[in-house]
Amino acid sequence: MATMVPSALPPGASWISLISLLLFSCLLPPDAQGQAFQMRVELQPPAVLSGESILVNCSTDCPWAELVSLETSLLKELVGSGLGWAAFQLKNVTGDTLLFCYGFCNDSQIAAFSNITVYRFPERVELAPLPPWQPVGKRLLLSCLVSGGAPRDHLTVALFKGDEELGRQPAAKGEPTEVTVTVLASRDDHGANFSCRTELDLRSQGLGLFQNSSAPRKLQTFAMPMTPPRLVVSRFSEVETSLPVECTLDGLFPASEAQVQLVLGDQSLNPTVVSHGDTLTATATAKAAQEGVHKIVCKVTLGGKSLETRENVTVYSRNPLAVTITLAVLAILGLVIVAAALMYVFGVKKSRLPLRPRQPEEAAAAVILSLGLSGYCKAEAAGGWRYPRIPHQ
Ligand SMILES: *[C@@H]1O[C@H](CO)[C@@H](O)[C@H](O)[C@H]1NC(C)=O
Ligand SMILES: *[C@@H]1O[C@H](CO)[C@@H](O)[C@H](O)[C@H]1NC(C)=O
Ligand SMILES: *[C@@H]1O[C@H](CO)[C@@H](O)[C@H](O)[C@H]1NC(C)=O
Ligand SMILES: *[C@@H]1O[C@H](CO)[C@@H](O)[C@H](O)[C@H]1NC(C)=O
Ligand SMILES: *[C@@H]1O[C@H](CO)[C@@H](O)[C@H](O)[C@H]1NC(C)=O
Ligand SMILES: *[C@@H]1O[C@H](CO)[C@@H](O)[C@H](O)[C@H]1NC(C)=O
Ligand SMILES: *[C@@H]1O[C@H](CO)[C@@H](O)[C@H](O)[C@H]1NC(C)=O
Repeated sequence: MATMVPSALPPGASWISLISLLLFSCLLPPDAQGQAFQMRVELQPPAVLSGESILVNCSTDCPWAELVSLETSLLKELVGSGLGWAAFQLKNVTGDTLLFCYGFCNDSQIAAFSNITVYRFPERVELAPLPPWQPVGKRLLLSCLVSGGAPRDHLTVALFKGDEELGRQPAAKGEPTEVTVTVLASRDDHGANFSCRTELDLRSQGLGLFQNSSAPRKLQTFAMPMTPPRLVVSRFSEVETSLPVECTLDGLFPASEAQVQLVLGDQSLNPTVVSHGDTLTATATAKAAQEGVHKIVCKVTLGGKSLETRENVTVYSRNPLAVTITLAVLAILGLVIVAAALMYVFGVKKSRLPLRPRQPEEAAAAVILSLGLSGYCKAEAAGGWRYPRIPHQ
């Protein structure tokens, strides 16, 4: 058994041992007297980093000590000796090693055992990859993988969010060993750095607390509503005419990181996207090149999930031939009305010459004439009739 160095004993204890030693030396026969003096093993440093060297000092207080030496499986080198002591250097210590110091005190052998504690920092401390996007409110398993690191019974693994410790567990014996902690993902976790850290606590060995940290991993959390986006667009439009499109989605987190796709037929629109709180609004102006029923799609993607809304837009074209025909028909109709009105007026004048022309008939003719003309003019001003005319919505 290794004996503690006197300085490590409480003051009371050293006096007690001294007194007991004196008592033993009086009572014991000469041969057993040497046993009253013990061998000590002092290690400097008290524990060794694997591959480093250590100084072992075998010493005794016996004033007649002889042949103090060290027995070990490692290669030793005597670095000094004196009355009752011999010091050796052991190089490249890689594993826990048993040491045996021995000597003679007045022909009786005295000995002590000690172990060298070899410590190693973990070679790998790694936080297992996080999901690219974690839904808010769902459980997230954080796992830390540790390879190497000794002695394991002095090694602890802690998991962190930023500086906040989420949990800790002693490192098990496995290689690698895994330590996990489960957290409920929140909005607050979005953009936070998660990491893990090992702590090799050798303070009881007279050394320090050695920490090794993993690289941080950034978490992205997201929330999506159950409802699809709201798509506001006119159901009817005309070829080559600007068609405003608006797509809105509420309850989106983080709204600013969502992607919006607005597509009319196979034409991808280039929307202006604005986010305000949890609301995302995309606006664009579409222009259909061809008539027909076109699909308009608004697709919002966040965290690898998407929500979409589809609407149909019926696009009509302006038909130049139909306009011309309409105008021609109107012109002919106008001429017919004018002719009829004139014939009527002259007919009346012929049959009832002495009398005054009948006012109401004349007025009616004028009205019909003006209606015909104004209809023609309106058609011109509007740039032609649309064909077929279908009311909006
Ligand atoms: C070894 O221990 C003895 C007794 O405590 C001391 O006198 C001596 O200086 C030590 N030697 C070394 C190399 O530390
Ligand atoms: C230390 O010891 C290990 C194995 O015990 C050996 O592989 C290594 O080469 C040694 N290193 C030196 C510097 O002697
Ligand atoms: C130990 O041996 C020395 C001589 O080697 C002797 O002087 C001394 O008295 C002895 N001590 C005891 C306690 O026998
Ligand atoms: C040294 O270590 C071995 C096993 O690792 C253990 O059985 C023994 O008790 C230890 N000895 C001392 C003196 O600590
Ligand atoms: C997360 O870690 C990265 C890289 O180490 C750093 O640039 C960034 O500021 C950290 N973010 C937070 C929120 O601590
Ligand atoms: C682990 O930490 C120690 C100090 O605490 C340091 O000397 C060592 O290089 C670290 N190991 C790695 C792999 O970062
Ligand atoms: C759009 O039109 C297609 C047929 O072309 C029809 O199956 C679909 O239900 C329509 N969608 C809407 C939202 O009206």
